[in-house]
Amino acid sequence: MSQDRHRSVLLEETLQGLAIRPDGRYLDATFGRGGHSRAILAQLGSAGRLLGLDKDPQAVAEGQALAEQEPRFGIIHGSFADLAQLLRGQGWSGLDGVLMDLGVSSPQLDQAERGFSFLHDGPLDMRMDPSRGQSAAQWLAGVTQKELARVLREFGEERHAGRIAAAILAARLQGPIGRTGQLAEIIKLAHPAWEKGRHPATKSFQGIRIFLNHELGDLDRGLEQALDLLHGGGRLAVISFHSLEDRRVKRFIRDQARGDHLPAGLPVTQDQLNRRLRPLGGAIRPSAAEVVANPRARSAVLRLAERL
Ligand SMILES: C[S@@+](CC[C@H](N)C(=O)[O-])C[C@H]1O[C@@H](n2cnc3c(N)ncnc32)[C@H](O)[C@@H]1O
Repeated sequence: MSQDRHRSVLLEETLQGLAIRPDGRYLDATFGRGGHSRAILAQLGSAGRLLGLDKDPQAVAEGQALAEQEPRFGIIHGSFADLAQLLRGQGWSGLDGVLMDLGVSSPQLDQAERGFSFLHDGPLDMRMDPSRGQSAAQWLAGVTQKELARVLREFGEERHAGRIAAAILAARLQGPIGRTGQLAEIIKLAHPAWEKGRHPATKSFQGIRIFLNHELGDLDRGLEQALDLLHGGGRLAVISFHSLEDRRVKRFIRDQARGDHLPAGLPVTQDQLNRRLRPLGGAIRPSAAEVVANPRARSAVLRLAERL
Protein backbone atom coordinates (compact mmCIF):
# COMPACT_ATOMS: atom_id res chain seq x y z
CA MET A 1 0.00 0.00 0.00
CA SER A 2 1.33 3.48 -0.78
CA GLN A 3 2.40 5.60 2.17
CA ASP A 4 -0.52 7.95 1.72
CA ARG A 5 -3.34 5.45 1.41
CA HIS A 6 -5.74 4.31 4.08
CA ARG A 7 -8.06 1.40 3.45
CA SER A 8 -11.37 2.18 5.16
CA VAL A 9 -12.54 -0.48 7.58
CA LEU A 10 -16.08 -1.94 7.73
CA LEU A 11 -17.17 0.46 5.00
CA GLU A 12 -20.36 -1.28 3.86
CA GLU A 13 -21.46 -2.10 7.41
CA THR A 14 -20.90 1.50 8.53
CA LEU A 15 -22.84 2.91 5.60
CA GLN A 16 -25.73 0.57 6.24
CA GLY A 17 -25.72 1.48 9.91
CA LEU A 18 -25.75 5.21 9.22
CA ALA A 19 -28.81 4.75 6.94
CA ILE A 20 -27.95 7.98 5.11
CA ARG A 21 -30.84 10.35 4.47
CA PRO A 22 -30.15 12.07 1.13
CA ASP A 23 -30.92 15.52 2.58
CA GLY A 24 -29.30 14.86 5.98
CA ARG A 25 -26.41 16.51 7.81
CA TYR A 26 -23.55 14.22 8.73
CA LEU A 27 -20.28 14.45 10.63
CA ASP A 28 -17.26 12.28 9.89
CA ALA A 29 -15.41 13.02 13.14
CA THR A 30 -12.27 11.13 12.02
CA PHE A 31 -11.79 12.10 8.36
CA GLY A 32 -8.40 10.37 7.92
CA ARG A 33 -8.00 10.00 4.18
CA GLY A 34 -11.72 10.38 3.56
CA GLY A 35 -12.67 6.85 2.57
CA HIS A 36 -15.82 6.80 4.69
CA SER A 37 -16.55 10.43 3.80
CA ARG A 38 -16.48 9.74 0.06
CA ALA A 39 -18.84 6.80 0.53
CA ILE A 40 -21.24 8.97 2.58
CA LEU A 41 -21.12 11.70 -0.09
CA ALA A 42 -22.00 9.10 -2.73
CA GLN A 43 -25.27 8.47 -0.88
CA LEU A 44 -26.13 12.10 -0.11
CA GLY A 45 -28.37 14.10 -2.45
CA SER A 46 -27.75 17.68 -3.54
CA ALA A 47 -29.29 19.08 -0.30
CA GLY A 48 -27.28 16.77 1.98
CA ARG A 49 -24.17 18.03 3.79
CA LEU A 50 -21.11 16.36 5.30
CA LEU A 51 -18.53 17.87 7.62
CA GLY A 52 -15.19 16.17 8.15
CA LEU A 53 -13.08 16.68 11.24
CA ASP A 54 -9.57 15.52 12.07
CA LYS A 55 -6.80 16.38 14.52
CA ASP A 56 -4.13 15.65 11.96
CA PRO A 57 -3.07 18.53 9.67
CA GLN A 58 -2.21 16.08 6.86
CA ALA A 59 -5.72 14.62 6.98
CA VAL A 60 -7.17 18.14 6.96
CA ALA A 61 -5.11 19.02 3.87
CA GLU A 62 -6.61 16.00 2.11
CA GLY A 63 -10.06 17.15 3.25
CA GLN A 64 -9.43 20.64 1.88
CA ALA A 65 -8.60 19.17 -1.53
CA LEU A 66 -11.92 17.28 -1.43
CA ALA A 67 -13.83 20.37 -0.28
CA GLU A 68 -12.55 22.31 -3.31
CA GLN A 69 -14.25 19.87 -5.67
CA GLU A 70 -17.27 18.98 -3.56
CA PRO A 71 -19.67 21.76 -2.51
CA ARG A 72 -21.58 19.49 -0.09
CA PHE A 73 -18.44 18.89 1.99
CA GLY A 74 -16.44 20.95 4.49
CA ILE A 75 -13.47 20.09 6.72
CA ILE A 76 -12.39 21.33 10.16
CA HIS A 77 -9.12 20.92 12.03
CA GLY A 78 -9.67 19.95 15.66
CA SER A 79 -10.52 17.20 18.09
CA PHE A 80 -13.90 15.55 18.39
CA ALA A 81 -13.52 16.27 22.10
CA ASP A 82 -14.55 19.84 21.10
CA LEU A 83 -17.08 18.91 18.50
CA ALA A 84 -20.04 20.89 19.88
CA GLN A 85 -18.05 24.12 19.77
CA LEU A 86 -16.50 23.32 16.38
CA LEU A 87 -19.91 22.63 14.86
CA ARG A 88 -21.39 25.80 16.34
CA GLY A 89 -18.55 27.67 14.64
CA GLN A 90 -19.81 26.25 11.32
CA GLY A 91 -23.39 27.25 12.10
CA TRP A 92 -24.49 23.61 12.53
CA SER A 93 -26.93 22.91 15.36
CA GLY A 94 -27.93 19.28 14.76
CA LEU A 95 -26.88 16.10 13.01
CA ASP A 96 -28.49 13.08 11.34
CA GLY A 97 -25.45 10.91 11.81
CA VAL A 98 -21.98 10.82 13.33
CA LEU A 99 -19.13 8.48 12.46
CA MET A 100 -16.07 7.96 14.65
CA ASP A 101 -13.46 5.61 13.17
CA LEU A 102 -11.01 5.70 16.04
CA GLY A 103 -7.26 5.38 16.34
CA VAL A 104 -4.54 6.00 13.80
CA SER A 105 -4.67 6.02 10.02
CA SER A 106 -2.35 3.95 7.84
CA PRO A 107 -0.40 7.02 6.66
CA GLN A 108 0.23 7.97 10.30
CA LEU A 109 1.64 4.50 10.95
CA ASP A 110 3.50 4.12 7.68
CA GLN A 111 5.26 7.48 7.50
CA ALA A 112 8.39 7.03 9.62
CA GLU A 113 8.61 10.77 10.25
CA ARG A 114 5.30 10.76 12.16
CA GLY A 115 7.06 8.70 14.82
CA PHE A 116 4.27 6.18 15.58
CA SER A 117 5.92 3.05 14.26
CA PHE A 118 8.28 0.56 15.81
CA LEU A 119 8.79 -0.94 12.34
CA HIS A 120 9.89 2.21 10.51
CA ASP A 121 12.58 4.14 12.34
CA GLY A 122 11.83 7.85 12.71
CA PRO A 123 11.81 10.71 15.19
CA LEU A 124 9.87 9.63 18.28
CA ASP A 125 6.76 11.82 18.02
CA MET A 126 3.39 9.95 18.04
CA ARG A 127 1.21 13.08 18.06
CA MET A 128 -1.80 13.03 15.76
CA ASP A 129 -1.59 16.83 15.86
CA PRO A 130 2.14 17.63 15.89
CA SER A 131 1.34 21.34 16.38
CA ARG A 132 0.19 20.71 19.96
CA GLY A 133 1.45 19.15 23.16
CA GLN A 134 4.59 17.14 23.78
CA SER A 135 6.19 14.61 21.45
CA ALA A 136 6.83 11.13 22.86
CA ALA A 137 10.56 11.96 22.99
CA GLN A 138 9.93 15.11 25.06
CA TRP A 139 7.58 13.28 27.38
CA LEU A 140 9.96 10.34 27.87
CA ALA A 141 12.79 12.76 28.71
CA GLY A 142 10.97 13.93 31.84
CA VAL A 143 8.56 11.18 32.94
CA THR A 144 9.03 9.32 36.24
CA GLN A 145 9.40 5.55 36.20
CA LYS A 146 6.17 5.17 38.17
CA GLU A 147 4.14 7.29 35.75
CA LEU A 148 5.66 5.56 32.73
CA ALA A 149 4.80 2.14 34.16
CA ARG A 150 1.24 3.33 34.84
CA VAL A 151 0.82 4.53 31.24
CA LEU A 152 2.18 1.27 29.78
CA ARG A 153 -0.06 -0.78 32.07
CA GLU A 154 -3.24 1.29 31.85
CA PHE A 155 -3.23 2.34 28.19
CA GLY A 156 -1.06 -0.40 26.67
CA GLU A 157 -2.38 -3.23 28.86
CA GLU A 158 1.29 -4.30 29.05
CA ARG A 159 1.79 -6.92 31.76
CA HIS A 160 5.50 -6.24 31.98
CA ALA A 161 5.08 -2.49 32.36
CA GLY A 162 7.28 -2.20 35.48
CA ARG A 163 10.22 -3.97 33.91
CA ILE A 164 9.94 -2.06 30.62
CA ALA A 165 9.65 1.31 32.40
CA ALA A 166 12.78 0.50 34.43
CA ALA A 167 14.70 -0.37 31.24
CA ILE A 168 13.61 2.86 29.53
CA LEU A 169 14.69 4.95 32.52
CA ALA A 170 18.04 3.12 32.64
CA ALA A 171 18.58 3.74 28.91
CA ARG A 172 17.70 7.42 29.38
CA LEU A 173 20.72 7.78 31.67
CA GLN A 174 22.94 6.99 28.65
CA GLY A 175 21.42 9.75 26.51
CA PRO A 176 18.11 11.00 25.05
CA ILE A 177 15.69 8.54 23.48
CA GLY A 178 14.74 10.31 20.29
CA ARG A 179 14.02 7.61 17.67
CA THR A 180 11.24 5.05 17.40
CA GLY A 181 13.76 2.33 16.50
CA GLN A 182 15.78 3.10 19.61
CA LEU A 183 12.75 2.86 21.89
CA ALA A 184 11.55 -0.34 20.17
CA GLU A 185 14.96 -1.92 20.73
CA ILE A 186 15.05 -1.00 24.44
CA ILE A 187 11.59 -2.51 24.93
CA LYS A 188 12.47 -5.61 22.91
CA LEU A 189 15.49 -6.31 25.10
CA ALA A 190 13.53 -5.73 28.33
CA HIS A 191 10.42 -7.72 27.36
CA PRO A 192 10.55 -11.18 28.92
CA ALA A 193 7.73 -12.84 26.99
CA TRP A 194 7.62 -12.27 23.24
CA GLU A 195 4.43 -13.40 21.57
CA LYS A 196 4.61 -15.06 18.19
CA GLY A 197 3.60 -12.72 15.38
CA ARG A 198 3.59 -9.60 17.54
CA HIS A 199 6.44 -7.14 18.04
CA PRO A 200 7.25 -6.94 21.77
CA ALA A 201 6.91 -3.13 21.65
CA THR A 202 3.34 -3.20 20.27
CA LYS A 203 1.57 -2.68 23.58
CA SER A 204 4.03 -0.14 24.96
CA PHE A 205 3.81 1.98 21.79
CA GLN A 206 0.02 1.76 21.95
CA GLY A 207 0.03 2.89 25.59
CA ILE A 208 2.25 5.91 24.97
CA ARG A 209 0.23 6.92 21.91
CA ILE A 210 -3.14 6.69 23.67
CA PHE A 211 -1.82 8.67 26.62
CA LEU A 212 -0.12 11.42 24.60
CA ASN A 213 -3.14 11.94 22.35
CA HIS A 214 -5.67 11.81 25.24
CA GLU A 215 -7.52 9.23 23.21
CA LEU A 216 -9.82 7.80 25.89
CA GLY A 217 -10.81 11.12 27.49
CA ASP A 218 -11.46 12.60 24.04
CA LEU A 219 -13.61 9.62 23.15
CA ASP A 220 -15.82 10.11 26.24
CA ARG A 221 -16.24 13.80 25.48
CA GLY A 222 -16.87 13.19 21.79
CA LEU A 223 -19.57 10.58 22.45
CA GLU A 224 -21.42 12.87 24.89
CA GLN A 225 -21.38 15.79 22.49
CA ALA A 226 -22.35 13.67 19.48
CA LEU A 227 -25.36 12.44 21.41
CA ASP A 228 -26.43 16.00 22.28
CA LEU A 229 -26.22 17.01 18.63
CA LEU A 230 -28.02 14.04 17.08
CA HIS A 231 -31.62 14.58 15.99
CA GLY A 232 -34.22 11.94 16.91
CA GLY A 233 -33.69 9.00 14.52
CA GLY A 234 -30.08 10.11 13.91
CA ARG A 235 -27.40 7.43 13.88
CA LEU A 236 -24.14 6.97 15.77
CA ALA A 237 -21.46 4.66 14.31
CA VAL A 238 -18.22 4.04 16.18
CA ILE A 239 -15.36 1.80 15.04
CA SER A 240 -12.85 0.84 17.76
CA PHE A 241 -9.54 -0.96 17.42
CA HIS A 242 -8.86 -2.20 20.92
CA SER A 243 -10.78 -3.27 23.96
CA LEU A 244 -10.10 -0.10 25.98
CA GLU A 245 -12.04 1.90 23.39
CA ASP A 246 -14.68 -0.69 22.65
CA ARG A 247 -15.53 -1.17 26.32
CA ARG A 248 -16.17 2.56 26.66
CA VAL A 249 -18.32 2.73 23.54
CA LYS A 250 -20.30 -0.33 24.61
CA ARG A 251 -20.85 1.04 28.12
CA PHE A 252 -21.86 4.45 26.76
CA ILE A 253 -24.49 2.99 24.44
CA ARG A 254 -25.78 0.66 27.17
CA ASP A 255 -26.06 3.48 29.75
CA GLN A 256 -27.82 5.82 27.34
CA ALA A 257 -30.18 3.01 26.35
CA ARG A 258 -31.10 2.38 29.99
CA GLY A 259 -31.70 6.03 30.76
CA ASP A 260 -31.40 7.76 34.11
CA HIS A 261 -30.43 5.72 37.14
CA LEU A 262 -33.32 6.05 39.56
CA PRO A 263 -33.88 4.18 42.83
CA ALA A 264 -35.87 0.98 42.27
CA GLY A 265 -39.61 1.19 42.89
CA LEU A 266 -40.10 4.86 41.95
CA PRO A 267 -43.39 5.37 40.09
CA VAL A 268 -41.89 6.65 36.83
CA THR A 269 -43.04 6.05 33.29
CA GLN A 270 -40.75 4.82 30.51
CA ASP A 271 -40.40 8.34 29.00
CA GLN A 272 -39.39 9.79 32.35
CA LEU A 273 -36.33 7.53 32.29
CA ASN A 274 -34.81 9.78 29.64
CA ARG A 275 -33.52 7.01 27.41
CA ARG A 276 -31.44 8.60 24.71
CA LEU A 277 -30.16 5.77 22.50
CA ARG A 278 -31.40 2.55 20.99
CA PRO A 279 -28.60 0.05 20.29
CA LEU A 280 -28.73 -1.37 16.76
CA GLY A 281 -27.45 -4.90 17.35
CA GLY A 282 -24.20 -5.76 19.09
CA ALA A 283 -20.58 -5.73 18.01
CA ILE A 284 -20.03 -5.94 14.24
CA ARG A 285 -16.68 -7.36 13.14
CA PRO A 286 -15.06 -7.43 9.69
CA SER A 287 -15.58 -10.48 7.50
CA ALA A 288 -12.75 -12.96 7.03
CA ALA A 289 -12.38 -11.64 3.46
CA GLU A 290 -11.92 -8.08 4.70
CA VAL A 291 -9.23 -9.16 7.19
CA VAL A 292 -7.36 -11.01 4.44
CA ALA A 293 -7.52 -7.95 2.19
CA ASN A 294 -6.66 -5.54 5.02
CA PRO A 295 -4.94 -7.10 8.05
CA ARG A 296 -5.30 -3.81 9.98
CA ALA A 297 -9.03 -4.44 10.09
CA ARG A 298 -8.58 -7.58 12.22
CA SER A 299 -9.22 -5.93 15.59
CA ALA A 300 -11.97 -3.54 14.39
CA VAL A 301 -15.37 -3.52 16.11
CA LEU A 302 -18.29 -1.40 14.90
CA ARG A 303 -21.12 -0.40 17.23
CA LEU A 304 -24.27 1.34 16.05
CA ALA A 305 -27.05 3.16 17.85
CA GLU A 306 -30.03 5.35 17.04
CA ARG A 307 -30.91 8.59 18.86
CA LEU A 308 -34.32 8.39 20.50
C1 LIG B 1 -8.69 5.22 11.44
S1 LIG B 1 -8.37 6.83 10.86
C2 LIG B 1 -9.84 7.26 9.99
C3 LIG B 1 -9.87 6.79 8.57
C4 LIG B 1 -11.05 7.25 7.76
N1 LIG B 1 -12.30 6.75 8.26
C5 LIG B 1 -10.88 6.88 6.29
O1 LIG B 1 -11.69 6.11 5.76
O2 LIG B 1 -9.93 7.37 5.65
C6 LIG B 1 -8.53 7.78 12.31
C7 LIG B 1 -8.34 9.27 12.12
O3 LIG B 1 -8.90 9.90 13.27
C8 LIG B 1 -8.12 10.99 13.64
N2 LIG B 1 -8.39 11.23 15.06
C9 LIG B 1 -8.08 10.45 16.11
N3 LIG B 1 -8.51 11.01 17.25
C10 LIG B 1 -9.14 12.16 16.91
C11 LIG B 1 -9.82 13.17 17.64
N4 LIG B 1 -9.90 13.13 18.98
N5 LIG B 1 -10.38 14.18 16.97
C12 LIG B 1 -10.29 14.25 15.61
N6 LIG B 1 -9.64 13.33 14.87
C13 LIG B 1 -9.08 12.30 15.50
C14 LIG B 1 -6.71 10.56 13.33
O4 LIG B 1 -5.87 11.68 13.14
C15 LIG B 1 -6.90 9.74 12.05
O5 LIG B 1 -6.72 10.55 10.91
